Amino acid sequence: MKILLLTGSPHKKGTTAALASAFDRGAAEAGHQLTRFDTAFMKIAPCLGCDHCRKNGGRCVHGDGMEEILPALLEADLVVLVTPLYYFGMSAQLKAVIDRFYAVNAALRQSPKKALLLAASGDDEPGVMEALVLHYQAVLSYLHWEDCGMLLARGMSTPEDLADAPYLLQAEEMGRRPLGER
Ligand SMILES: Cc1cc2nc3c(=O)[nH]c(=O)nc-3n(C[C@H](O)[C@H](O)[C@H](O)COP(=O)(O)O)c2cc1C
Repeated sequence: MKILLLTGSPHKKGTTAALASAFDRGAAEAGHQLTRFDTAFMKIAPCLGCDHCRKNGGRCVHGDGMEEILPALLEADLVVLVTPLYYFGMSAQLKAVIDRFYAVNAALRQSPKKALLLAASGDDEPGVMEALVLHYQAVLSYLHWEDCGMLLARGMSTPEDLADAPYLLQAEEMGRRPLGER
């Protein structure tokens, strides 16, 4: 299975980077073909809404990192979105990438994919990820993608917090069996 993993944290060694790496390990062990983009370390401009892409066969005015991401996105069977919780939503870095899906919107909506969400938050209240989850579900519903699971690592302010939690093992297992046959 072709898996595209998009991380959205500016912390190279942060909480969600650790979850993504655990997922990578599981996916590699199971022989999945995984492509990972750490989008916070790429040059990715926010969408200008200029519709240049719509009039030019999907070509954006920004010649930036999305030129690498979009072909991998179109080919992927499964897309893994990885983000820290920022003010109850995904990080701006990951949101900028998703906004730029606009350039290939029609093709994406006609190409059935599966998706996973890996997220971490500092707070541990049960509802802290609610808005993020609703947003994720709305995006999937619009794109006709199928949710295959979410790993919501609450109460994880730093990667050190993961040491006493089950999330790294869970992320690894998700990588091994991404379609939910866990
Ligand atoms: C700008 C910013 C906004 C945040 N907003 C929230 C939030 O709304 N709720 C929460 O529980 N944690 C929030 N956090 C904490 C992070 O989600 C948490 O520290 C997470 O582990 C960071 O993951 P990372 O190291 O992968 O970036 C925020 C952190 C930052 C820097």
